[in-house]
Amino acid sequence: MTDTNATAPHRPAPVHSRISELLGIDYPIIQAPMGWIARSALASAVSNAGGLGIIETSSGELDNVKAEIAKMRDLTDKPFGVNIAQAFVRDPNIVEFVVSQGVKFVTTSAGDPTKYTAQLKAAGLTVFHVVPTLAGALKAVDAGVDGLVVEGGEGGGFKNPKDVSTMVLLPLVASKVSVPIVAAGGITDGMSMAAAFALGADAVQMGTRMVSAAESPVHHNWKQAIVDAAETDTVFLNRFSKPGLRALRTERTTRLEHDDHVSLGEMANALDLYFGGDMEAAIALTGQVAGRIEGVEPVASIIHATIDGFRARIAALQRFA
Ligand SMILES: Cc1cc2nc3c(=O)[nH]c(=O)nc-3n(C[C@H](O)[C@H](O)[C@H](O)COP(=O)(O)O)c2cc1C
Repeated sequence: MTDTNATAPHRPAPVHSRISELLGIDYPIIQAPMGWIARSALASAVSNAGGLGIIETSSGELDNVKAEIAKMRDLTDKPFGVNIAQAFVRDPNIVEFVVSQGVKFVTTSAGDPTKYTAQLKAAGLTVFHVVPTLAGALKAVDAGVDGLVVEGGEGGGFKNPKDVSTMVLLPLVASKVSVPIVAAGGITDGMSMAAAFALGADAVQMGTRMVSAAESPVHHNWKQAIVDAAETDTVFLNRFSKPGLRALRTERTTRLEHDDHVSLGEMANALDLYFGGDMEAAIALTGQVAGRIEGVEPVASIIHATIDGFRARIAALQRFA
């Protein structure tokens, strides 16, 4: 008798949460938006694996973004979303642009939630806003968002200089709002996903883990630097200035760590780092969770192992019930 499943990849049963139901996805795992990185190669792998891929607009390259969204429709028939990182918007018609692409889900970040929410919702989109504080969360809920991405300060990327860890921020926000919550910052596997759900999340978002994934378009040097990093190998830049940034510790960022103000000019050669592999050319936005990432793995393995680990961890915790 032939075992026809012998080589079939393991695909766990769907996880039904408020967010997986709302978005029509098998697993409540969202790939973070990341300038130039969150494009169709990575996002379609995530959507095809049962999570939700997100396409970035923070690069500001809207013609390329448009082409990437078109590619998504060739590469997957599963849902995906788009992010509007408000601080980086150059085109005043960004909402019309996103709506015209026919996407149904958008996250807004790095800005005032009252700015775009009503317009996006009037066009029929589901809108989640990214928040780093309780005050930000309450403001976003007042603005009418459908949900929140609650992002702890251990995460990679642009940060509120008054950073609060996921462990504190997530249960605080969850105790004060009733909209569904995506937890971001420090999530990489089933154990951290189970912790996020215990603290009130209905989904998780992974940034750094997705930078390290096999389908991520970044140069292997960055992926290897994430794998090699200890949990202490990120720096927080602009602690007393703006914008706050969490990035991988390199010679460059170690030099900048104590500067009163780090300008975004330090990112001018970002693409030499991202795709050329010169880790000193700019700043590699990366979260503390790099210290828990031990290899470069395909997106489907990451997502399916996370779901298996999530279920195993919840089952193990039952003995305390
Ligand atoms: C390289 C990089 C680029 C990012 N760019 C964006 C962005 O354009 N828009 C946004 O909302 N968040 C951005 N973020 C933050 C992520 O969306 C995510 O919330 C964060 O990485 C989660 O923490 P983690 O790195 O511990 O997974 C970025 C993060 C990284 C690592």
